[in-house]
Amino acid sequence: MNPPIELSSTFVGSGDIATSPYAYGRFDTPAWGPFEAALGKLEHAALPGLVYGSGLAAIASTLSLVPRGGTLFMPRHSYQGSLQSAGEIAERCGFDLVTVDIADTEAVIDALDALEANRSVADEDPTADDNRGVASAMLWIESPTNPMLEVADMPRLIAAARDRGILTAVDNTFATPLLQTPLDLGADVVVHSVTKYLAGHSDVVLGAALTSSDDLHVRLHADRSMRGAIAGPFEVWLALRGLRTLSVRMERAQDNAAQIADRLSSHPNVVETRYPGLPGDAGHDRAAGQMSGFGAIIVFCVETAQQATAIAEAVRLWTPATSLGGVESLIERRRRHASEPTSVPEGLLRLSVGIEHADDLWNDLDAAIRAAHVA
Ligand SMILES: Cc1ncc(COP(=O)(O)O)c(C=O)c1O
Repeated sequence: MNPPIELSSTFVGSGDIATSPYAYGRFDTPAWGPFEAALGKLEHAALPGLVYGSGLAAIASTLSLVPRGGTLFMPRHSYQGSLQSAGEIAERCGFDLVTVDIADTEAVIDALDALEANRSVADEDPTADDNRGVASAMLWIESPTNPMLEVADMPRLIAAARDRGILTAVDNTFATPLLQTPLDLGADVVVHSVTKYLAGHSDVVLGAALTSSDDLHVRLHADRSMRGAIAGPFEVWLALRGLRTLSVRMERAQDNAAQIADRLSSHPNVVETRYPGLPGDAGHDRAAGQMSGFGAIIVFCVETAQQATAIAEAVRLWTPATSLGGVESLIERRRRHASEPTSVPEGLLRLSVGIEHADDLWNDLDAAIRAAHVA
C-alpha cells in the first residue's frame, strides 16, 4: 500500500542519461514520483507536479520564468516571505516588481494595461530588450492572501492576464486543491507550501509547483535541477502520507473555523473578524462563487498589539507559533515579524484552526480575549 522510502542518490546505467528515467537524485528520483503524481491529479494538472525543498524554493523557481526586463505583479499582502524573496530576485535578475491590491480587480487590470501601453512604446524602439517570444510579465495571485484573507477574482484576473500574454501563477497554499483548482481557470502555474495543509502535521518543510504546460514544466524542472532546491525522500514520503487525510482534516478544520469565526464576529472585545465564510466579509461573495469551501484560516483584530500578544500568551489549547495548516490550532500576532507590511494591523491575530473540538477551542480563545481586555 505504501511506496518504499527510496534513498538512492544514483542509479545504475551506462547509456545516455536522457534515455533513462533515473540517473542522479538531483534530477529525478522514484522518491518523488508518487507524491508528484498525486498532487498533479489533485490540481487537475496535465503533468505530474514538481516537489521542492520548501514552498519558497518552489516560488523562487516559478519566478525564474520572469525574464530580465520583465514585470512581476504581486499582491501587496502576499505571504511576506514571498514578497521579500520576490523583491530580492527582482533586483538580482533585473525585472520590475509591482505590488497590487489583488482584491481590487479593476486596479489590477489597469496595472496590466499600463504595462501593455509601455510595452507597445518599447516595441517601437528597435534597441529595446523586449524579450520577444517569451512572456515578459507574470501576475502572481495569492487567494485568499496571507494574512489579510483578501479574495481575488480569479476567473477574471486569469483571463485578463491571458488575453494580454501575461503568465499567471497562483499560490494555492491556503485553499488547497480541494477548495479551488486554478489550472482549470487557465492559470499557468500553481505553487504550494506543502509544509502547510498538504503535509498537514507540522513535521516537514516542502514545496511544489504544478503546470499543464510542457514548456513551463521543462523550464521549472531545469531550474530545480540546476539550482538544486530539491526535497529529501523521507519528507516527501511524509507529505504523501499527509495527503491521504487532506480531505478529512480540511473538512473538520473548516467546520471548526466557521463556528469560531461566527462567534468571534459578535465578540464584544473583537474589533474586526475576517473570514471569507462570514456573510458580511468583503471576500464572501467572490469566495462563494469560486471556491468549494472557505478554508480554515481566520484573522481577527483587537485594539492593541499588547492585547494581541497577551491573547497569544494566555491561550492553553491553541499554540502560539508561526506557520499554519497542521492538525493543531495555532495563533500568531503577525506584526511580531518586522518584515510584515505595515498595512497589516498591529492588533491582528492569525488563527490556523486545527481539528480539535470546536467548543474547547472557543472556550480557550474566548477566555484569553476577555482576560487581555480587562488586563
Ligand atoms: C501562502 C504561503 N506561501 C508560501 C509559503 C512559504 O512556504 P515554506 O515555508 O514551505 O517555504 C508560506 C509560508 O508560510 C505561505 O504561508
